[in-house]
Amino acid sequence: MGVVGLGAMGGGIAQLCVEAGIETVGREVSLELAEKGRDRIAHFLTRKVEKGQLGQDARDAAVGRLTLTADLGDLADCDLVIEAIVEALEPKQELFRELERVCRPDAVLATNTSALSVTEIASATTSPERVVGMHFFNPAPLMPLVEIVRTELSADEAVNAAFALGERIGKHPIRCHDTPGFVVNRVLIPVLNDCIRVLDEARVTVEDLDAGMKHGVGWPMGPCELIDLIGVDVHVHASEALWEKLREPRMAAPPRLVAMANAGLLGRKSGRGFYRYDG
Ligand SMILES: NC(=O)c1ccc[n+]([C@@H]2O[C@H](COP(=O)([O-])OP(=O)(O)OC[C@H]3O[C@@H](n4cnc5c(N)ncnc54)[C@H](O)[C@@H]3O)[C@@H](O)[C@H]2O)c1
Repeated sequence: MGVVGLGAMGGGIAQLCVEAGIETVGREVSLELAEKGRDRIAHFLTRKVEKGQLGQDARDAAVGRLTLTADLGDLADCDLVIEAIVEALEPKQELFRELERVCRPDAVLATNTSALSVTEIASATTSPERVVGMHFFNPAPLMPLVEIVRTELSADEAVNAAFALGERIGKHPIRCHDTPGFVVNRVLIPVLNDCIRVLDEARVTVEDLDAGMKHGVGWPMGPCELIDLIGVDVHVHASEALWEKLREPRMAAPPRLVAMANAGLLGRKSGRGFYRYDG
């Protein structure tokens, strides 16, 4: 396996791979950043040992399966490479062009993009049949779902290889086609935006709206709690991306959320969003 970008998502994906016994090469822009990524993975695995979820030997073996590099050429032997770099089309296309050059012709190239078109990323290569989406959810080690996204040009072998990898690393993969938001975000983002509009229309409190969706629908957490967890800025950004592509009013971020994002009320990560969080 190759994982390009060892940030929040790539680090989690690499962790899943080494825990599943797969030799994994992690590529970052510098060895220093790669080492930071590995330190985070090692830290999470140590926490699992402390909680009794993993043996010390298994932890050490898992960390040992991760090789670090800043040189893309070190991905030459990988069967499958997952890209988890910055969410922008041009750098991703540039990377896929390079990956096509250095990887084996039969290697599958996957992108973890949330909001970009897998088809557009694949169009930078001359072998788009081997490009698929593998959309993990944050935090990847904990969230069971991975969306296996095919373009009109993806080969069945590439889709099946990505699906099989998802299963092997303990995820629950689902298959879908390359459309804006794929499956979950296409449903979830407008629903959360509807919830926030209802806050103002129905003059319900944040606490009562959350209680309504938990106790009336069976959601494990309320929409305001969920947006605080996702990050208000991340949700606004995702809404804007869907709005750009689909032009459906429900996709557009409600002004209340945009105002919160601009004010730095980002949810849990900033200590305050719909709710306040101590420490
Ligand atoms: N964070 C989420 O909730 C989430 C969920 C699903 C998918 N995604 C997608 O995953 C991707 C990564 O997101 P993230 O949150 O992990 O970002 P991040 O900023 O935490 O990590 C990105 C990493 O990629 C590295 N990088 C940038 N260019 C590189 C290159 N050319 N080669 C190697 N490394 C490079 C950066 O140094 C950084 O460490 C994005 O496409 C994002 O849309 C994110």
